[in-house]
Amino acid sequence: MTAASGQRLTQLDELVSLCARRGYIFPSSEIYGGINGFWDYGPLGVELKNKVKARWWQTVVRERADVVGMDSAIISHPRTWDASGHTEHFSDPMVDCRACKKRFRADQLDDIGPCSAREGTSEHDLTPPRNFNLMLETRIGASEDAAATAYLRPETCAPIFTGFKRVREAARQKIPFGIAQIGKAFRNEINPRNFTFRSREFEQAEMEFFCHSDEREKWFDHWCNERMRFHQELGFAPDSLRTRPHGRDELAHYCKNAVDIEFRFPFGWQEFEGIHDRGDWDLSRHSEYSGKDLSVSGEDPKQRFVPTVIETSVGIDRLCLALLANAYAVEELDGGESRTVLHLHASVAPIQVAVLPLSKKLADPAHALESQLCRSFSVFYDDAGNIGRRYRRQDEAGTPFCVTYDFDSVDDQQVTVRERDTMKQERIAIDGITDYLEEQLECTA
Ligand code: GAP
Repeated sequence: MTAASGQRLTQLDELVSLCARRGYIFPSSEIYGGINGFWDYGPLGVELKNKVKARWWQTVVRERADVVGMDSAIISHPRTWDASGHTEHFSDPMVDCRACKKRFRADQLDDIGPCSAREGTSEHDLTPPRNFNLMLETRIGASEDAAATAYLRPETCAPIFTGFKRVREAARQKIPFGIAQIGKAFRNEINPRNFTFRSREFEQAEMEFFCHSDEREKWFDHWCNERMRFHQELGFAPDSLRTRPHGRDELAHYCKNAVDIEFRFPFGWQEFEGIHDRGDWDLSRHSEYSGKDLSVSGEDPKQRFVPTVIETSVGIDRLCLALLANAYAVEELDGGESRTVLHLHASVAPIQVAVLPLSKKLADPAHALESQLCRSFSVFYDDAGNIGRRYRRQDEAGTPFCVTYDFDSVDDQQVTVRERDTMKQERIAIDGITDYLEEQLECTA
């Protein structure tokens, strides 16, 4: 059978239901009805996420001599957020409906739906907008006083700035160089929505590149190109990605220049990564608030300066959502059947190879094959249901290769390899199967 035509994702709901069904992503605390803005990643989801993060770390940190990594605490000294401007500025305008008591973002009122509590009209009775700070508060220790208040970090970059001097000296790095980290961030979003796109707990992969202000444009362009290349290599359809420079009126107070990398989600073009020229705002402010000198010396040791920062900031959850949406297709097959398939790039597919014995009687040699393949690939063993059903399950999981062990395999020591995208099948000798799959996965990676 061959795929005749493919229907791309138009409704997010279809992907949401596939993700729950196959154990990619589902509501957190689902048995209690879920908790708005929080999501759990199941067996396939965690593999996808880990592979995306590993690829980012490989490209941004390991393959470069001028970027080093760190892994900071989620909670920082509260003064950090005064210095970064978050205590004062990190808010969204919020309105309440006096009738139904629902809360909305004042700048996103287009699709809030009718009010359920007003007779004679379906319009909400909205309060004037007021600012709502998005930082999630917590308390440290047993004390109840205000001094114990702390915040879960709303972005991962702040500890990179507060750790800048220590990391630079320990890693013996000279300007220009970068510090990268991947980790959780928390925002008390007024309206979490569009699945994992806007949630209250999410992961960011951020890199802060410290340079002289004379070189800011060169490095800004460099990182825009590098980041776009990274995404293109992950298999996004060419017409599904674009860059969008920010207008002057959109720039954050500290930002001199910004470009968004956007994906065409089923709900429209939206950003999943930003490249920002943050100027010397961060290090200057942390110098001022901490009283520590964060300047560096240039070629002339007497001439000190505060480095300019070029930031790359990608949301891992949004990138995973974009990858899943990009990969999703419903295809008509010869004979009137259809299949749902995730054409995920082989380097991030949660399962690379599925081992499928044709009968449970073949369990021993099929498990031996699984053990052999496990050393080189992420492998899943499935002996439940007819072979057609098992192929469909692997298509939905996004598995690039299925290896079927059948009764002939016992005699001829060959297996059938079925490729996900073309559905072509080939007989391959078991003693050459690892090399064959490595080569095939390399070609698609
Ligand atoms: N340090 C800069 C910074 O945090 P941002 O544009 O606020 O910039 C960067 O966030 C990325 O983090 C976004 O492009 C997005 O992918 C992700 N992100 C931000 N808020 C998010 C949310 N509520 N849910 C999921 N991802 C989010």
